[in-house]
This record gives sequence, structure tokens and C-alpha cells, in this order.
Amino acid sequence: MSRAIYPGSFDPVTLGHLDIIKRSAAMFDEVIIGVLNNTLKSPLFSLEERVNMLNEVISDIPNARAVSFDGLLVEFARQNDIKVIVRGLRAVTDFEYELQMAQSNRKIAPEIDTVFLTTNIEYSYLSSSIVKEYASYGVDVSELVPEYVSSALKNKMNIDK
Ligand code: PNS
Repeated sequence: MSRAIYPGSFDPVTLGHLDIIKRSAAMFDEVIIGVLNNTLKSPLFSLEERVNMLNEVISDIPNARAVSFDGLLVEFARQNDIKVIVRGLRAVTDFEYELQMAQSNRKIAPEIDTVFLTTNIEYSYLSSSIVKEYASYGVDVSELVPEYVSSALKNKMNIDK
């Protein structure tokens, strides 16, 4: 059975992420979306909210599920018998950071490979940060994120104001 992990912060999940999840789910038997519990970043959405949002928007993808993880990605992958890490590449600006991460991970876990999927051109400019910034100014982000996330953003911005 082929099992891959798509790791990230997903603060929040965008349509670009969702596109990568769908395409990965067509390539592997099981795709685990690993949501990082990063104590160094202060996310807009809590870890639980990010995992719940993801599970909501992937509910129609039977072989994908979101879970949280902390610590080293490759350790989590080993513990869960995952041999492939999936990452999306939007533009050449992503490449340096992604290559460094893939090489470092492979150095300490040579049995785990990183596979890059090029982001759909439609979403090549899109990031969670841009979505959050737009939403904070009241811009409609319904074409950038799943509907569920768009509502969650509206609630979050109103609550926090
Ligand atoms: O969505 P992001 O923030 O670009 O995702 C980055 C992520 C979660 C893939 C990366 O920070 C990560 O794997 N963190 C876990 C800790 C780890 O394994 N670090 C070594 C990476 S070289």
C-alpha cells in the first residue's frame, strides 16, 4: 500500500492546497495531510481548527485524511509507515526552500522521498498569507479558498475585531 504525507501549516487550506491533495489522492492509496503544530508561528487558526477545516473540505476524498503532528516530519512519517512526502511548487521562488527541505529530510531519512507537484497555474500566486491579508481587509476570498474556509475566515475576522 502506498501512503504519502502532504505536510504544511494550512493556515488556512486554500484551493491551491486542495488541488494538490486531490491530485495526490489519485496517485497514492492513502494521503495523510499532516498539519504542523508549530510553536514558533502564531497561526490565525488553532491546530484543531486547521485539522477540522481540512477534514471538512476533503470529506469527499475517501483516501485522504488530515491529522496534526509535531516534531520532525520524517519521524512522523517513519512512525506511520509513510515513504513519500508531497509538496507543491508554485514558482521558482519556492524551489530553493523546497529543495533544501527535501535534501535535508533525505539526509536523515534516505528511505523517504519527496515528490513535487506543480501547482495548477490558476493558483500559482496563491498562499495562505495572501488569503489572510485579503480577508483581514474584508476582501471576498470565496474564489481562493473552499466555501467552508471562506465562512470560517469571515467569522474569525468578525470575532477578533
Ligand atoms: O506550509 P509550510 O509552513 O510551508 O510547511 C512547512 C513544513 C510543515 C513542511 C516544514 O516546516 C516541516 O516539515 N516542519 C516539521 C519539522 C521538520 O521536520 N523540520 C525539518 C525540515 S528541513
